[in-house]
Amino acid sequence: MEIALTALVVNDYDEALAFYVDAVGFDLVEDSPSTANDGSAKRWVVIRPPGATTGLLVAEASTDEQRAVVGRQHGGRVGFFLETDDFDAQYERMRAAGVRFREEPRHEPYGTVVVWEDLYGNPWDLVQPAGAPTSENSFPPATDVGEVLLTPEEIARRIAELGAELTADYADTNPLLVSVLKGSLVFVADLMRAIHAPLEIDFLAVSSYGAATKSSGAVKIIKDLDQDIAGRHVLMVEDIVDSGLTLRFLLERFSAQQPASLKTCSLVVRDGVPDQPKVDYEGFRLPPGFVVGYGLDAGQQYRHLPYIARYANPD
Ligand code: IMP
Ligand code: MG
Repeated sequence: MEIALTALVVNDYDEALAFYVDAVGFDLVEDSPSTANDGSAKRWVVIRPPGATTGLLVAEASTDEQRAVVGRQHGGRVGFFLETDDFDAQYERMRAAGVRFREEPRHEPYGTVVVWEDLYGNPWDLVQPAGAPTSENSFPPATDVGEVLLTPEEIARRIAELGAELTADYADTNPLLVSVLKGSLVFVADLMRAIHAPLEIDFLAVSSYGAATKSSGAVKIIKDLDQDIAGRHVLMVEDIVDSGLTLRFLLERFSAQQPASLKTCSLVVRDGVPDQPKVDYEGFRLPPGFVVGYGLDAGQQYRHLPYIARYANPD
């Protein structure tokens, strides 16, 4: 089912069409003669935004009661919500045509919105819903965040591929995904949902870097695993392998605990670094240069960016 039509009560068919079709840009879908219950002549007039399925039945008021609701069909509440995927273009078109706006466009969490009035004063929302986070619409851009190297879409595509590989390789083994905090948090959350087989997850926190972007050289366990890995198929999930110091340390520590198998997966492997430990499942290779976003931080900032970008301001 769907709501096919909703009625818009107007004073006059033709002035309403001039407004909605010419100024706002709706299509005139149908305009045919019809007869009212009392035998009088009417028109069946349907308008619809281009490409929309729900239309408006333009209904000319013929009684005092009907005339009284023209322009205040919803008692002053916004009663119509016009959704667009190109807010700027539609806003400009309507402004140029002299449509009355009650405010400046607002940016809300749910999207960009402005309230406008039709020729009778009925308030409408023009809204462009906020989409999924993209490189363009996401915080910052800050001066510290440079060129986007991996977009949310590229990351999602690659994770779907890795997930398919892992689903096949780990079917029926109930692997234990070990997420190395904090950096791999975002990656492991997406990766685990791309693996369509039973699995478990545990967390481990290490610190190998100081406050900002320079390695302190030493790996320290800050939070250990909750469970025994003996006999388990363990997959270590890392955000980025740089020198490989962290991963090598963890591999040595875990292999001593007799897992059934021990493999590694990293979203990013930094290119051109000698003597890195083997990464069995590799998301991307990136050239040297500090990066932030999608879990990766600089001084604990920028982990929540949905993309991976060059960090423009390393000290
Ligand atoms: P590795 O021990 O040198 O391989 O460094 C591994 C850890 O350092 C990663 O898990 C990250 O937490 C951190 N790291 C390395 N490179 C970057 C980067 O470019 N941005 C943010 N964190 C990084
Ligand atoms: Mg890390």
